[in-house]
Amino acid sequence: MADYPHTSALMARGAAFLGSETAILCGAMSWVSERNLVAAISNAGGFGVIACGAMTPALLDAEISATRALTTKPFGVNLITMHPALFELIAVCAKHGVGHVVLAGGIPPKGSIEALKEAGAKVICIPPTLALAKKYLRSGADALVIEGSEAGGHIGPVSTSVLVQEILPSLRDEALVFVAGGIGRGEMIATYLEMGAAGVQLGTRFAAAVESVAHPAFKKAFFRASAREAVASVQIDPRLPVIPVRALKNKGTEEFTAKQLEVALLLDQGSIEMGEAQLRIEHYWAGALRRAVIDGDVENGSLMAGQSVGMVTREEPVADIIAELMGDCEAALRH
Ligand SMILES: Cc1cc2nc3c(=O)[nH]c(=O)nc-3n(C[C@H](O)[C@H](O)[C@H](O)COP(=O)(O)O)c2cc1C
Repeated sequence: MADYPHTSALMARGAAFLGSETAILCGAMSWVSERNLVAAISNAGGFGVIACGAMTPALLDAEISATRALTTKPFGVNLITMHPALFELIAVCAKHGVGHVVLAGGIPPKGSIEALKEAGAKVICIPPTLALAKKYLRSGADALVIEGSEAGGHIGPVSTSVLVQEILPSLRDEALVFVAGGIGRGEMIATYLEMGAAGVQLGTRFAAAVESVAHPAFKKAFFRASAREAVASVQIDPRLPVIPVRALKNKGTEEFTAKQLEVALLLDQGSIEMGEAQLRIEHYWAGALRRAVIDGDVENGSLMAGQSVGMVTREEPVADIIAELMGDCEAALRH
């Protein structure tokens, strides 16, 4: 991009890989990253990614077609590795010639990277450690996203600032590494680019954009919240596993704590079996993100948001957000 020479130079590798003007990805957000937001991001020079989430292959098929109708620019698809129909979803991406597929949510099952590459897609993986980053690259991943615990949604235990120090110095020359988690401003993008990142991925900053279909009440919760309200869910009992999710505090997050205590007590009393107890915890949040994003139930739904939510203060068009990020990054690099 002509207006941002320093930034564009540092983003050149990442942008060439994505086929976009900037190396700014909008990370897939279930229910939020659908045709409208994805197309808007790609049309504005970023790289949009459809969140497949729990969609069936037929729904993904329709979503890809609908997105194509809204943009001629490249975009990707994010598949959750534990989806029971993963290989059918891969076939849908192959049918549409999707250029980039992000495999999220754990170690990609045997044959999944190979199947995507056979279909001509570039594969992006999300390693939580340097050892797994190297393993994914050996297995054929074309690029990596490293995501720290400041991010919204499901998170690992390590912060972005530590992950980038552990992973970028080892891999920046040989691999394309995009950095995610807690990025709210362009100055931060400048720092990661200077450390050798190929680009960055943001979610929270884009979730409440004009083009996002999220319910007005969901967006309003974002505009009001500060960083300290975006908290990670906590496991109360070692017998009842909880995968940490960062979301805005609300009635639902409070009741989740009470629910864990209640189920632990039932276990202590021998009133329920371990399997049943774990299922009750696992099912607590079922459908909760949809309730918040689509229905606008900001009390009981899951308001997944990263700590950068404090920097989201109003509804802005995606193009303005990208222009601001690029402008601030450029100014930082010029200094
Ligand atoms: C509401 C919401 C839903 C998300 N859903 C997904 C998802 O389905 N798959 C995924 O890989 N990441 C998901 N994420 C993570 C984002 O793709 C992205 O990596 C993250 O938001 C980046 O950190 P940031 O929120 O600090 O910008 C989600 C994040 C949010 C805020």
